[in-house]
Amino acid sequence: MKLDKTKRGWWESAVFYQIYPKSFQDTDGDGIGDLKGIISRLDYLEKLGIDGIWLSPVCQSPQVDNGYDISDYQDIYPVFGTMADMEELIRQAKDRGISIIMDLVLNHSSDQHPWFLEAKKGRDNPYHDYYVWRDGTQGKLPNDMGSVFGGPAWTYVPELGQYYFHQFAPQQPDLNWDNPRLRQELYQMIRFWVDKGVGGFRLDVIDQIAKVPDAFITANGPRLHEFLEELSREAFREDGLVTVGEAWSADVPRAQQFSSRDGKQLSMVFQFQHIGLDQQPGKPKWDTKPLHLPDLKTCMERWQLGLQEEGWNSLFLNNHDLPRIVSRWGDDGVYRVESAKMLATMLHGMQGTPYIYQGEELGMTNVRLELSQYRDLEIHNLYAERTAAGYDPETVMESIYARGRDNARTPMQWTPGDNAGFTTGTPWIPVNENHSFINAEAALADPDSVFHHYRRLIELRKTYEVFRKGKFRLLLPEDPNIFAYIRKTEKETLLVVCNFSNKEQAVDGISVPKNARCLLSNYADTAEALRPYEAKMYLW
Ligand code: GLC
Repeated sequence: MKLDKTKRGWWESAVFYQIYPKSFQDTDGDGIGDLKGIISRLDYLEKLGIDGIWLSPVCQSPQVDNGYDISDYQDIYPVFGTMADMEELIRQAKDRGISIIMDLVLNHSSDQHPWFLEAKKGRDNPYHDYYVWRDGTQGKLPNDMGSVFGGPAWTYVPELGQYYFHQFAPQQPDLNWDNPRLRQELYQMIRFWVDKGVGGFRLDVIDQIAKVPDAFITANGPRLHEFLEELSREAFREDGLVTVGEAWSADVPRAQQFSSRDGKQLSMVFQFQHIGLDQQPGKPKWDTKPLHLPDLKTCMERWQLGLQEEGWNSLFLNNHDLPRIVSRWGDDGVYRVESAKMLATMLHGMQGTPYIYQGEELGMTNVRLELSQYRDLEIHNLYAERTAAGYDPETVMESIYARGRDNARTPMQWTPGDNAGFTTGTPWIPVNENHSFINAEAALADPDSVFHHYRRLIELRKTYEVFRKGKFRLLLPEDPNIFAYIRKTEKETLLVVCNFSNKEQAVDGISVPKNARCLLSNYADTAEALRPYEAKMYLW
């Protein structure tokens, strides 16, 4: 079903799919995915039924952070292809009812961007103020703020006698949003892409643009909402443009404001409160603890209820920064297929716009590599920092296996053959060995595959209004193993029941009426109790 994408709110019935171009499909044998590769897989995505592709950055970049360090916002990274390839992708996707959602990295640029090269030339250079500088002397940092990827958030430029601020790597200097000229320049750049026909934007770390380093403020700076309103007014003029902001700091009240229905800021945000539930409180993501299911239920309930009237939710369990969910909250061994389907069912029954990350629809899993085979700068920084601080190397590797971003970045598994059909060359990062049995070819041929389960979930969302509109009610909040909830409109009731454990669980306190139809299940039949990772969706 093709949606009318000219009106605000079309995304409330849509499902999006994230592509990490480097790892999706290579066509020229250099071991790195490319735009032609994405074009060649559009039929596959059409079969899945998605309405849009969030494309991780494809612009010109030195690739220190895989494209999240942009040196030219209006050109394509040549290893991925040309502007003509990009135009072709936009056109061919549109023919299939699929919009391209570009990744906008507006918080920082690459240190190789001409603006930064100019900025470093002198304090009175017109581009100097495009970045965030503080006077200082070498060895005496302006303050002790740290960067997300380890090390200080300040780097010294001796020629200027100044430090520049970077929330991420030193090669990703922060842009100074207090400068109105910089803001106008960014808006013009966005209009360039709107004119090319993209359907919307994903905004990288958007809650961090209004930083105030002197006050130790990174996210939610005092001018954030002002900036977002201006950005939306000036750059996102069309009602049909969908915008999703990455906002690690978002809580419900802030998200209501970011995604308010008047369209003044963004269509929705990615919030991460559920993602942090299996890490030790107050510690970095590397310090894990088991998920306590009632915590997840309360969290999801808070978001479902919180954005029911005002705002709009995004729904996701995976992206290019997160480990594979089936390895994280499911079982990537015996019950891989059942648990991948169960997690999808739990999420896709909710209100919001679901995002599927490449390979999630195959039940792709985490990977264990040798340290030298990892490519992510964050992983190498962590290893160096923690071993220097006295951590035992094996413990550090366990953190990397559990949380490293490269878990999500191994190549897409298309076939059981050489390099999983991803490339005829040497892949830039190893292919997961389990592609011999986890791959798209096998999934398409098997009507009971994880792929077809996702396809059905997408179809259901488009068939029944209750998926878009139903009011949420959590059932059995205290139950440590079962996640169950109701969605209800005047006409329809949807019941979702999921067993998060690898044991059979009796369900007490939920009754399924006689007239209910089972819409979807991950077991062929029905039993008294819920079997390991069993999930069911009923409608009446
Ligand atoms: C976001 C991106 C991540 C990137 C960072 C810096 O969190 O998702 O991949 O490293 O921003 O741009």
